[in-house]
Amino acid sequence: MDKIIVEGGWRLSGQVKISGAKNAALPILAAALLVDGWCEFTNVPQLRDVDSIKQLITHLGAQVETPEPGVVRINAGGLCNHEAPYDLVRKMRASVLVLGPLVARLQKARVSLPGGCAIGSRPINLHLRGLQRLGARIELEHGYVEAAAEKLCGADIYFDVVTVTGTENMMMAAVLAEGVTVLKNAAREPEIIALAEVLTQMGADIQGAGTSEITITGVSALQPVKVAIIPDRIETGTFMTAAALTGSRIEICDCEPTHLNAVIHKLRLTGAQIDIRKDSLTIQGRDEIASIDIKTLPYPGFPTDMQAQFMVLMSVAKGLSVISETIFENRFIHVSELKRMGADITVSGNTAMVRGMAALSAAPVMATDLRASASLILAGLVAKGRTEVQRVYHLDRGYEAMEKKFAALGAAIKRLPV
Ligand code: EPZ
Repeated sequence: MDKIIVEGGWRLSGQVKISGAKNAALPILAAALLVDGWCEFTNVPQLRDVDSIKQLITHLGAQVETPEPGVVRINAGGLCNHEAPYDLVRKMRASVLVLGPLVARLQKARVSLPGGCAIGSRPINLHLRGLQRLGARIELEHGYVEAAAEKLCGADIYFDVVTVTGTENMMMAAVLAEGVTVLKNAAREPEIIALAEVLTQMGADIQGAGTSEITITGVSALQPVKVAIIPDRIETGTFMTAAALTGSRIEICDCEPTHLNAVIHKLRLTGAQIDIRKDSLTIQGRDEIASIDIKTLPYPGFPTDMQAQFMVLMSVAKGLSVISETIFENRFIHVSELKRMGADITVSGNTAMVRGMAALSAAPVMATDLRASASLILAGLVAKGRTEVQRVYHLDRGYEAMEKKFAALGAAIKRLPV
């Protein structure tokens, strides 16, 4: 297990290139299970989570090749195993995304229940109810979900709460179903639109992706595609927050600014100057950061995956910030580590009160989940002294070579094997 050492106090400068989006790559690689033939995906981020889903897809009987870094080819013509075992699913809960494609292609699936994780219980009841609405029989036993359906039939599916992977799973289950499926209260994230575009290129009939009502008309078969993964909006927001935090001016390239309207709006309110271009942006942080409130919401609201990073910014802002986390029930785990670095944060239920202060102090800290890890790296950039972040395997799940990208921007940061 590696650790990352950060010496605080350095301004950043220069350019950083954004990698492909983890949360687009995972459902899109799973969608290849729907196709008999070679699909090719480019701009695929090199992440632990991507490795996990490639391993699972191989286990299911598909061929997976990585001819060069960032390129993944999948041929699910030989798909034969309908079981996603616990030892693979526990590594990455988004493995549940193979559920819809397996039932659609093999008429059955046996997928380990993902269980909870650090940020919450993360149930998949809405995924299962959606499959039942499409005619699948669902049984839960020994920690596994068993789903079976000779033929899935289109239906109206209403999501009690907005679920990103739930929407993705049901889209992938419905594209080969008989008849019309309407997803209501569907997620609207850019990753949903990206998946719908890939499925449409494969030959699916999908209308309304990006809105809260998506209509899928089943087709008989899908064709192989070659597509690029969209840029990672959360990685983009993380580097923007780093610039705001350190009063730096950096250029962020190969990104999609229109996917970050809420984050850009909030960063501008803190005083950052942001100039947007088609696939890049420049952000200039200020020495005095204004405190503002944020509330996490489904897209296009402020993303929960940016909450921890923003909390670091508010920890050194001028004033009081109220941060409300409405998506996950336990996504303040980073608070205790930030308080060890001197942050003044009080948590009550799903609300954190952050009293900004002059500076954080470096400390040895422990990463607990993906975005909490990123927040600790950000804190290290401005804390006085040397911060050591342990258990950075969490970081490697969702950020491609983060410490190298920060070092190229001038940060005093390095990774050490433990
Ligand atoms: C996706 O998780 C993302 N992961 C998460 O990113 C992200 O935080 C989350 O969406 C919210 O935007 C991927 O796309 C791989 P949800 P997902 O289903 O789909 C409840 C990261 O850091 N719910 O949208 O698992 C659930 O408990 C990760 O990159 C049910 O109750 O999240 C939560 O409170 C973390 N029943 C809310 O819905 C269900 O069947 C939103 O969860 C499904 C979800």
